[in-house]
Amino acid sequence: MMIAVFNNKGGVGKTTSAVNLCAALAGKREKALLVDLDGQASASLHLGHNRHSELPTAADVLVHNADIRQAIVETEIPHLSLLPGSRTLANFDLEMAGRLAREQILKKRLAPVLPDYDWIVLDCPPALSLLTLNALVASDQYLVPVTPGYLALEGLAGLLKEIERIQQELETPGDLLGIVPTMVDYRNRLTGEVLEMLRQHFGKLVTQTEIRINVRLAEASSFGQSIFDYDKKCQGALNYQALAKEVKKRCRARKTVAA
Ligand SMILES: Nc1ncnc2c1ncn2[C@@H]1O[C@H](COP(=O)(O)OP(=O)(O)OP(=O)(O)O)[C@@H](O)[C@H]1O
Ligand SMILES: [Mg+2]
Repeated sequence: MMIAVFNNKGGVGKTTSAVNLCAALAGKREKALLVDLDGQASASLHLGHNRHSELPTAADVLVHNADIRQAIVETEIPHLSLLPGSRTLANFDLEMAGRLAREQILKKRLAPVLPDYDWIVLDCPPALSLLTLNALVASDQYLVPVTPGYLALEGLAGLLKEIERIQQELETPGDLLGIVPTMVDYRNRLTGEVLEMLRQHFGKLVTQTEIRINVRLAEASSFGQSIFDYDKKCQGALNYQALAKEVKKRCRARKTVAA
């Protein structure tokens, strides 16, 4: 199963969710690959991957057709592999400008390693760029992390419409697996109200799991560790464990419907 984690809004917890969801899945001994599609390479740093490594990165695989198996690295976490990102990913749109079927590149490059993993999670950049389109085309499902604020809600409705339009045009099968409330802070008076609106409007598309605001999650990323290695008993770890469980359940339900 391949899941893209994206929202064109920045700083909503895409990378934190992609990394810790992958780590939780790998923790259940399921083979997981995290694909870092962001030019900031935050997911790679979050997993302690050295930015100055000489190894090929996702950019080399995508743009120069480098061997994906040589680019994938093992992480400190058993069962979790990483296709590292790099700053050159930021040039992807420009580099690909003249190519045919340029939305299909990621799908093609990942095809040889699909059988090696139970889960492939794509951490997308904060834009509806060509890279994000590639992620949408390649993935079976997508997750949209959202911070509960009024402006974020307005943006979300527009984003989902735009994705639907793109999917129709590109004939991509990707399915919205869930909208994930992130950085939920009930000390803020409006949070409960906004979440209620979100659930009223989007119903079951919103995951039951809410990722609460938890400073341990931010700390873990700066130490280059998953939340489970940094503090496996904190609220953030419990929330991402629950999210992984819910994601698996939702994926199983999709498979049953599709069968
Ligand atoms: N639940 C949380 N509680 C506290 N801090 C969080 C939480 N989730 C994420 N953060 C912190 O918020 C910041 C933004 O999170 P993150 O990098 O995951 O967002 P993003 O959507 O990937 O951002 P970008 O759009 O720049 O790629 C980071 O410093 C991260 O450590
Ligand atoms: Mg990010």
